[in-house]
Amino acid sequence: MNYVRMPIELESPEQLGYDTIRYNLSESSVADRRLGDLNLKLDDILLCYGDHRGSPDLRNLIAASGDGLSADDVLVTAGAAGALFIIATSMLDRSDHIVVVRPNYATNIETPRAIGCRISLIDLEFENGFRLDLPKIEAAIEPGTKYVSVTYPHNPTGVMISEEELRALADLVERKGIHLLFDETYREMSFGPVLPVAATLSKRVISVSSLSKTYGIPGIRTGWLISRDPELMELFLAAREQIGISGSTVDEYIAYVALSRREEWLRFNNARIASAFAIVKEWIASEPLVEWIEPSGGCVCFPRIASSANIDVAGFHRRLYHDHGAYVGRGRWFEQDDRHFRIGYAWPDEDELRGGLAAISAALRESIKG
Ligand SMILES: Cc1ncc(COP(=O)(O)O)c(C=O)c1O
Repeated sequence: MNYVRMPIELESPEQLGYDTIRYNLSESSVADRRLGDLNLKLDDILLCYGDHRGSPDLRNLIAASGDGLSADDVLVTAGAAGALFIIATSMLDRSDHIVVVRPNYATNIETPRAIGCRISLIDLEFENGFRLDLPKIEAAIEPGTKYVSVTYPHNPTGVMISEEELRALADLVERKGIHLLFDETYREMSFGPVLPVAATLSKRVISVSSLSKTYGIPGIRTGWLISRDPELMELFLAAREQIGISGSTVDEYIAYVALSRREEWLRFNNARIASAFAIVKEWIASEPLVEWIEPSGGCVCFPRIASSANIDVAGFHRRLYHDHGAYVGRGRWFEQDDRHFRIGYAWPDEDELRGGLAAISAALRESIKG
């Protein structure tokens, strides 16, 4: 493995220092919750090694989100990031090939890269509405391809695919005898119909998700992968045991309680996402120096500095952070030009969001060239 730190982690707000940022528009989740919000009784939790697959209660709850799933189809992991790491390191070696849609959550590209396998990157294009190009994906599949890797609702753009497109992807990997890695970390944050858990569609589809984004509790580092292929699950369990034996019994209990409140939390989140989204949409409509593909899911968007605007891009990002105290996710976090930037609109409160958007407008104007 050839580990390299990723810009999205190197430049993350928690590494930079939250106290250096006044308007934090760089997050990709709803606001983080406090332990006290959950009213937990932790005293009786036994601090033993837990079930290596994750606590059965938690796995049952996760399995209940997909038709025909059982707790045996679920492996609890250290966040969705842990699930992605397990999948890549157990399925790939240097001689393999995968197809990855980009931009993507960085780990989906970086771990296969660290393994040293060959990667065909299929770039989503702004000009094409960031639409998924199925024929392009199919054309990139080779005899040695192990899996196709996609994320929906999409991070960083917030675009969606339809259920028909998801089914077409599942059919494609079935036909080719390969797998689909479907990172559905934002599944429950869809403006329209919520997609089915992808792994319910085929034994060749692996779903990945977590409680970090929709539930705003990334601090417990609890996620999961789902597959209906028992052999593959045994392989993933072997990896999980070698990495950490089992998960934390405390974290898994907290995850269970949070997931038990799913309906209530989703209602709250959806209302918050809707009002924050309206603020961003109004700002974009009134800001000629920025253009976007309007998202239809998630809690992030990926606007870009208008192609007609003559802006000193490095100067813009410098002024935005250093002079205005506002922080966004730079394009390079996603292997894109820094004219693009990700705005996470559901993490800050509305005043902070409005302040951050005003700061972007001001920093852009201060960075006009000539
Ligand atoms: C699409 C996607 N997948 C996975 C992750 C990792 O999340 P976590 O490990 O906190 O569950 C993220 C975090 O930003 C993400 O956006």
